[in-house]
Amino acid sequence: MATKLGIIGAGGMVNYHIPGFLSAGAEIVAIADYNPAAAKAVGARYGVTRLYKDAAEMLAGCPEIDAVSVILPNKFHCPVALQALRAGRHVFCEKPPALNAVEALEMKTAAEEAGKTLMFNFNNRARPESRAMMDYILDGTVGAINSAQAKWIRRHGIPGFGGWFTNKALSGGGPLIDLLHMVDLAFYFMGCPEPEYVLATTFNDFITDKNFKGPWGIPDVADGVTDVENATHGFVKFRTGQVLSFQASWAEMVEREEVSVVFQGKKSGGMVRRLFGRDGIDDTAIDSAELYTQEHGRPVNRCLITEADPAMGRERSAANFIRAIEGREAPLNSPDQALMLMKIIDAAYESSNTGRPVEIR
Ligand SMILES: NC(=O)c1ccc[n+]([C@@H]2O[C@H](COP(=O)([O-])OP(=O)(O)OC[C@H]3O[C@@H](n4cnc5c(N)ncnc54)[C@H](O)[C@@H]3O)[C@@H](O)[C@H]2O)c1
Repeated sequence: MATKLGIIGAGGMVNYHIPGFLSAGAEIVAIADYNPAAAKAVGARYGVTRLYKDAAEMLAGCPEIDAVSVILPNKFHCPVALQALRAGRHVFCEKPPALNAVEALEMKTAAEEAGKTLMFNFNNRARPESRAMMDYILDGTVGAINSAQAKWIRRHGIPGFGGWFTNKALSGGGPLIDLLHMVDLAFYFMGCPEPEYVLATTFNDFITDKNFKGPWGIPDVADGVTDVENATHGFVKFRTGQVLSFQASWAEMVEREEVSVVFQGKKSGGMVRRLFGRDGIDDTAIDSAELYTQEHGRPVNRCLITEADPAMGRERSAANFIRAIEGREAPLNSPDQALMLMKIIDAAYESSNTGRPVEIR
C-alpha cells in the first residue's frame, strides 16, 4: 500500500518534494500552510483537496497519514517535527535540521522514543555526481579521506532583507546554516567522523547592502530584522585526524557562485562541483565530478559522466525518504549525523563570537 503523506509548508521547496514523493509511489493526502492561498495553489497543482492551517489541524484531521514533510522556516523544524513524531508519524524535515544542536538532539530522542524514521533533506548527497563519487569512495579507490575543502559561495545572493532568512531567531544564522550542504557533503564523503575542534569567523560587511540581494529568496520586510552574517570561513578537526576547511557566503567578493567539495584521499583525490554562470541561475550551471589518481607512474584525472539533474538531488532525496520508510532503500542520512552537523555549526558561531577554537564534547 502506498505511503500516505502530509505536507506542512507550501512555499518554494514543495515543488521538489511532491514530485520526489510521487516518483517513489507515495500518496499526498493533505497540505497545511498558515497561508491558505499558498496551500490552495499547491493543492490545485497536484490535485490535493484536503487543506489545513497547520500541523496540529492536519494531524487531527488525517489519522491515516503515515509520514509528514516539514518544509517550513528553520525555527519551526524542531517544534513541528516533535509534534508529528509524538503523534506517531515518520518525518522528512528540510535542512538545516534545526536552529541548534539542542533542538536536533530533542528531535533525535523523540524519533527514538516513537520508533519512527526521522530524516533530513541533505539533497546534495542524492545528486548524480555525489552518488557516482560514493561508488569510488565505497569501493576503496579513494582510500581514507585525509582532508577536504567545502564551499558554497555567492557574490550577490542575500535571500531578501528582514524576512525569516536574515532573522537569527527564525533562521539560526546566515549562509553557514543555510548553505550547510557542502559541509554536509564533505562530512558524508569523509565517513561522518566525530568533530573535535572548530575554528571559524563570520563577516557581515554586506548584510544590509541591497546591492547584494540574490535573484531568488523571499520579499524584503521593511521593519524586519537583519542580524546574521553574510559569510563564514572555518576549519574543523575531527577525532580521526581528518580535517575540513569551509567557506559559506551569500555575499562576498568572489568570481561567481560556486558549490563544491574537493578532497584528498590516501589513494585518490576528487571533486564534486556546480559552477554557476551567474548567481542562482540554474540553467547556466555546470555540474562536474572528477577523480585525481596516480596510474602507471603518472597523474591521471578521471571525469565521471553522470546524468543532468538541475534539481540537485532534491527529488531523489524525497524519494529516498519514502523508500527508506518502506524498507526498500538505505536512508541517505541519520539523526546522529544531523546532530554532529548542528554541533559543528554551533561551534563555528561560538568560535566566531569568542575568537577561540571551540572543542566539541
Ligand atoms: N534543500 C534545499 O535545497 C533548500 C532550498 C531552499 C530552502 N530550503 C529550506 O526549506 C525550508 C522552507 O523554505 P522555503 O524556501 O520553502 O520557504 P518559504 O518561505 O517559501 O515557504 C514557507 C511556507 O511555510 C508557511 N509557514 C510558515 N510557518 C508555518 C507554520 N508554522 N505552519 C504552517 N505553515 C507555515 C509559509 O506561509 C510559507 O508558505 C527552509 O527550512 C529552508 O532552509 C531548502
